[in-house]
Amino acid sequence: MSKIKNIAVLTSGGDAPGMNAAIRAVVRSAIYHHLRVFGVRHGYEGMIQGQLKEMKSHHVANIIQRGGTILKSARCEEFKTPEGRKKAYEQLKSFDIDGVVVIGGDGTFKGARAFMDEYEIPFVGVPGTIDNDLFGTDYTIGYDTAVNTVVEAIDKIRDTASSHNRLFFVEVMGRDAGFIALRSGIACGAEAILIPEKQTHLETLRSHLEDGPRRKKSSNIILVAEGEVAGGAFAIAEKVKEDFKEYDVRVTVLGHIQRGGTPSAFDRFLATRLGVAAVQALLDDQKSIMVGYMDREIVHIPFNKTIKHNRTVNQELLDLFDILNV
Ligand code: F6P
Repeated sequence: MSKIKNIAVLTSGGDAPGMNAAIRAVVRSAIYHHLRVFGVRHGYEGMIQGQLKEMKSHHVANIIQRGGTILKSARCEEFKTPEGRKKAYEQLKSFDIDGVVVIGGDGTFKGARAFMDEYEIPFVGVPGTIDNDLFGTDYTIGYDTAVNTVVEAIDKIRDTASSHNRLFFVEVMGRDAGFIALRSGIACGAEAILIPEKQTHLETLRSHLEDGPRRKKSSNIILVAEGEVAGGAFAIAEKVKEDFKEYDVRVTVLGHIQRGGTPSAFDRFLATRLGVAAVQALLDDQKSIMVGYMDREIVHIPFNKTIKHNRTVNQELLDLFDILNV
């Protein structure tokens, strides 16, 4: 019999479509297991300030299809300090919380890991970020929806690009990671992608553009991940304009539309499975782990291993651009 009686759930960092489905799954499975469940508003900030409120099943009705997060989210500087975490611990104690589910990305898990080094209340993480940059899960909640949003936008850009024979640089999100650029680039038939994980790309891009006339293409779309080391889509477009005057260049930054919108069926499914698994993990006395989804199975990965720099880009997928751009 588990000693867990009261749990808290929060969303933290950049919001991601499917977070609401995860909150719903946590709340309902907690109630199913006869636990009391408290929603924390505004992530760690709300935890420090004691913004906890008990949630019942009806509080999460009709949210599975909604983007954003009903609990709100924040990036909290104070939680990075021992003083901030102490305040959070005291608040959790005052609500008698004996387990916490945190839904977020690597910043969220770094905070959780620091807390776990100091206090005994178990934290379990659910991967929620459009960036898909966490080690230990094939997919993070929100990534699939974001990729679909990007693909839909680029299909539209392709129409106008081909009508005018233009070269477009389209900047997509991914602060330190190129997973959105990689997957959507493949799905929309982009001519190339520029991502932080691959250093030699400017040269590749040059040879690709030099080869343009031979390939008789009516449009070129290059996806640039925002964290790309050469400085983002505008900076790269400027360089290209100088060297390749024959190209009519345009830039589009897709920005935060990638974070909003109705979650895809896959994200809802993933969020539901992971939310239920997180509550089960707390009941099984797990702590300091993220529940992940690998090879269609639920896995438990220590927070230490989940941070983004462990996750590498699949070279086979990068090679597809060369194969398909003959
Ligand atoms: O963490 C997801 C993400 O959307 C990144 O891709 C992006 O760099 C960042 O958040 C932007 O964060 P914000 O606009 O919320 O500060």
